[in-house]
Amino acid sequence: MDLESFHRRSIDDPEQFWGEQAALIDWHAPHRKVLDCSKPPFTRWFVGGQTNLCHNAVDRHLATLAESAALHFVSTETGEQRSLSFAELHREVVRMAAIMRSQGVGRGDRVLVYMPMIPEAVFAMLACARLGAIHSVVFGGFASRSLASRIDDARPRLIVSADAGSRVGKLIAYKPLLDEAIRIASHAPEKVLMVDRGLAPIERVQGRDLDYAELREQHLDTDVPVTWLESNEVSYTLYTSGTTGTPKGVQRDVGGYAVALAASMKYIFCGNPGEAYFSSSDIGWVVGHSYIVYGPLIAGMATVLYEGTPLRPDAGILWELVERFKVTVMFSAPTAIRVLKKQDPAYLTRHDTSSLRALFLAGEPLDEPTAKWISEGLGRPVIDNYWQTETGWPILTVAHGVEKTPTRFGSPGKPMYGYDVRLLHEETGEEVGPNEKGVVAIVPPLPPGCMQTIWGDDERFVETYFTSVPGKMVYSTFDWGIRDNDGYYFILGRTDDVINVAGHRLGTREIEESISSHPAVAECAVVGVADQLKGQVAMAFAVLKDPAAAVPTEQARLALEGEIMRTVDRQLGAVARPSRVHFVTLLPKTRSGKVVRRAIQALCERRDAGDLTTLEDPSALEQVRKAVGA
Ligand code: PRX
Repeated sequence: MDLESFHRRSIDDPEQFWGEQAALIDWHAPHRKVLDCSKPPFTRWFVGGQTNLCHNAVDRHLATLAESAALHFVSTETGEQRSLSFAELHREVVRMAAIMRSQGVGRGDRVLVYMPMIPEAVFAMLACARLGAIHSVVFGGFASRSLASRIDDARPRLIVSADAGSRVGKLIAYKPLLDEAIRIASHAPEKVLMVDRGLAPIERVQGRDLDYAELREQHLDTDVPVTWLESNEVSYTLYTSGTTGTPKGVQRDVGGYAVALAASMKYIFCGNPGEAYFSSSDIGWVVGHSYIVYGPLIAGMATVLYEGTPLRPDAGILWELVERFKVTVMFSAPTAIRVLKKQDPAYLTRHDTSSLRALFLAGEPLDEPTAKWISEGLGRPVIDNYWQTETGWPILTVAHGVEKTPTRFGSPGKPMYGYDVRLLHEETGEEVGPNEKGVVAIVPPLPPGCMQTIWGDDERFVETYFTSVPGKMVYSTFDWGIRDNDGYYFILGRTDDVINVAGHRLGTREIEESISSHPAVAECAVVGVADQLKGQVAMAFAVLKDPAAAVPTEQARLALEGEIMRTVDRQLGAVARPSRVHFVTLLPKTRSGKVVRRAIQALCERRDAGDLTTLEDPSALEQVRKAVGA
């Protein structure tokens, strides 16, 4: 069938379409109704069906793939390597579930996972799924303040963590960051389960902190059966940034997510049981949830869990891993490829990558030179795919499992089955024509796998996502897009204050709040500025409480800039650190007091700042211009 008819069918008759896809996973009890969208924009899929993500990712394969590889862990940071079969993965997940259960964790309880890329992190996620507990994985690169706000929102019964992670040879001790986060959080967890990798000392808090190895010994043979869940119960929450400083807990279901991932593995990624899948993302991001942990395992594939960077020990490491595990499907981000592009191209051919069928790239715009360089270098198709934490799986791409649609440079492709994608005019809400810029929107019902709501805040879910286009209850992606005459979409950047640094989604408001917490800072503005390597970087403009006293000399200025950067490092993590902090005496604002971030961003990118007639004091923009040398 061609992609267009496949897509048409999914939109015209979602019940029939997704009813068929439901057969891709195991159910303990079948659904009564495929789709319930009686309370728009809320959507319930496979109502009444009972299933479990852990069962589908692990137990289900024991009959046919027990001795087949399920997880290949490689750390080029510590030199560790470990492979587990599905049978071994099953044993470890059950043990982890037994430990959690012994600490009172059960159905509906939250478990926060703050961990480096180690197998125990995957065990923890799957153990939660097994018990019906809700995991909330926080990216290991985040620091105490980011962690604390997520702890307070999720209110976990248990936190699972480890002594340390490592990045580019630098040890990141997690425990002190975690202890600090718990100290500043209002809702401390009852227990903290620590995995000790032997990398950093762990200071145990009596009565609260537990040792994983010790408890594992006690539960080597404890059986923990799968808890069958109604399809619409909550599998996990994953925090993501938006326009406000408070992160949103993207909440996902069980059955819809499992079906959506299974379908995507079949139609988009074309992976087969017994093969290996390698995604170089991190479990702390949505790509890690969908395509390191659940997607590949549901498809019966071995997943490669990689703690390391693309350049160490050398620029061939990603391809060496492809060769080592005979990877057939690979997933990465454009930034990683841009980093490699600066290295000797010989690294691309030094290893046997003939097992690879395609390389999928997502998370940020894929520029044509990068796409060409890597697809020619590898001699393999490169498939751009566009989606969000909110959707859980690709919105736009090509689906070679449906039809071999040709790709087009600069375009992630066409709408995937299940997504009724429209481009709407920002002000009128009307559909725009071909080659006209509009907001990328999705007409509900959102397909299976997409967010159910924002954790604990249905109102914010509706307000945030379904009210921004005038006159229509449609889901806004907050991305600008354009469609060519042949139906290929192109993504043109965010409509809101979210920025994308090396494929990491960050909220400028969170960074602003962190900078403003520095005692010398009165107020500040952070914008995302185009960067050749990272896609975007954060650029900060700060007004000091006492401008004259604080930066009398260049040396003092540099010292203060460094201090502010360290504040962000300490509170949010190095990923959020602005590339520069410029000091100005006032921020460009409209007469109603709104900081004109788009104008600041334009100046930083040497573009026209647009209409300045609404500015309260145009000299503020002059200062920005001077600061960035525009
Ligand atoms: O702006 C879009 C950009 O990343 C945002 C979503 O980021 P996140 O929630 O972290 O999910 C990433 C899942 C891959 C989008 O709103 N984005 C993502 N993929 C692409 C992209 N921009 C252009 N092209 C893409 N392929």
